[in-house]
Amino acid sequence: MDIRLYLDRKREEVDRFLDSVVPDTKLAPTTLHEAIRYSLFAGGKRIRPILAIAAAEAVRTPPQAILPVASSLELIHTYSLIHDDLPAMDNDDYRRGKLTNHKVYGEAMAILAGDALLTLAFDLCSNSDLVKGLDPVRQVQLIHELAVGAGNLGMVGGQVLDIQAENKDIDLATLQTIHKHKTGMLIRAAVRMGAIVSSATPAQLDDLSGYAEDVGLAFQIADDVLNVTGTREELGKNPNTDVQRGKKTYPTFYGVEGARGLAEQCTKRAISRLERFDVKADPLRALAEYITARRS
Ligand code: IPE
Ligand code: IPE
Ligand code: MG
Ligand code: MG
Repeated sequence: MDIRLYLDRKREEVDRFLDSVVPDTKLAPTTLHEAIRYSLFAGGKRIRPILAIAAAEAVRTPPQAILPVASSLELIHTYSLIHDDLPAMDNDDYRRGKLTNHKVYGEAMAILAGDALLTLAFDLCSNSDLVKGLDPVRQVQLIHELAVGAGNLGMVGGQVLDIQAENKDIDLATLQTIHKHKTGMLIRAAVRMGAIVSSATPAQLDDLSGYAEDVGLAFQIADDVLNVTGTREELGKNPNTDVQRGKKTYPTFYGVEGARGLAEQCTKRAISRLERFDVKADPLRALAEYITARRS
């Protein structure tokens, strides 16, 4: 299958939907809405929503509610990037090919834009007009998955471990735990939420969760590798920042080639978890390959 075409189409769908639900910059508070839109529409790959859609499609043709559910993940992800770039965290100047949010709008507005995006994600997922067609039990389950993936035992927990590991001689197990949480848990939530929208069976949900865990690790290993090998033009963010900030990453332990090899192993394992799925899971299989091979 042509994964590039699939990614382009799904990204356009998600972008169109996000544009329709995120307040216009003319709506007060205008600076907040400008700051939100500045980062949200700066050109992210939309991998998490696309994983949710592909997981839903692997089970059956998903209902309309898949778009708000998938898009809620991008709102959380964009908030996590705005906060991740703040001076108190990674202190980065570029993101998605543009100056970081706080560089343009100031730290207070960047924090608040992140807060608003986080809240808006739960608004989308719980909006009965948007998720009509899903039974209430499923709606609550989706909100729970989003909270677990994003929160203290998920992405935020991972960010805490990541910050605490700076300039420390951490071991590989600790690095794995950091990656599993800071990146893996939201990716896991994305895949599981897609599966839940499509009423996956418990066995299907298990297989898809396994897929998501392997893909999540591959994704962050690839991010570590690109931090060493990529350019600002390719990545839309500054390279070499991990070394500068004293962060141990997969290339620190295994070298660039070794880390690439490990990401490929994760990808193979992820694909093998989909054995019980038919051709409807081909986009998920292709996404796993893309996530390791990507240049941005
Ligand atoms: C970057 O995520 C940060 C990580 C969690 C590794 P992406 O590579 O998905 O960034 P965008 O959304 O395309 O900008
Ligand atoms: C970002 O991880 C993870 C989250 C935002 C949750 P990194 O700090 O390693 O990613 P980049 O390199 O800034 O995108
Ligand atoms: Mg970080
Ligand atoms: Mg960072």
